Amino acid sequence: MPNASKSSPEAIPLRPTQILRAEHRLIDEQLNVLSGALRQLGDRGPNPEVLDRIESVARYIDGEMAVHHKKEEDCLFPFLEEFLTSENLRLDARIADHEDLNIMNTKFKEALGECRELKSGKRASFTAQMLRGYGLYIVHLVREHLLKEDQILFLVAEEYLTANQEAEILKRFAAIEEAGAPRS
Ligand SMILES: [Fe+2]
Ligand SMILES: [Fe+2]
Repeated sequence: MPNASKSSPEAIPLRPTQILRAEHRLIDEQLNVLSGALRQLGDRGPNPEVLDRIESVARYIDGEMAVHHKKEEDCLFPFLEEFLTSENLRLDARIADHEDLNIMNTKFKEALGECRELKSGKRASFTAQMLRGYGLYIVHLVREHLLKEDQILFLVAEEYLTANQEAEILKRFAAIEEAGAPRS
């Protein structure tokens, strides 16, 4: 998948929030892939092709999404702490969402592995239902999370960050991209 921050190198340097918003749209696309696959899982049971699509999204969560979260937690959020005080703007709630997603993705991958082993029978359809439940939870969690960042956190960042702070954040983004995705 192309990295959003490298999509137009000759253009005027992007602001950090533009990069993160562009990555959110790529995450949206993955959520659409997951929703579609989960619907088919409900109709057709644990079909291998549907499970492959689900697995590609689980890998994306561990890979590209983990890099996105690192950019937010290590680069952007520290600069926002002083501006965010009220309850619904709390950064730790957004970090908790990231952790929640990682925990759910671990359960999701376990259920996926079981679905691959159990081809048919009562236990197989139960496991497919579990997989579907975890997947729907992930779709809901991430959609809400993106909304809160796009419509609250990033607006605060765009309003208050100085040009120097933005330049420093972009430098940190580049270092994280260079290091690549952590492997779980
Ligand atoms: Fe986030
Ligand atoms: Fe984000």
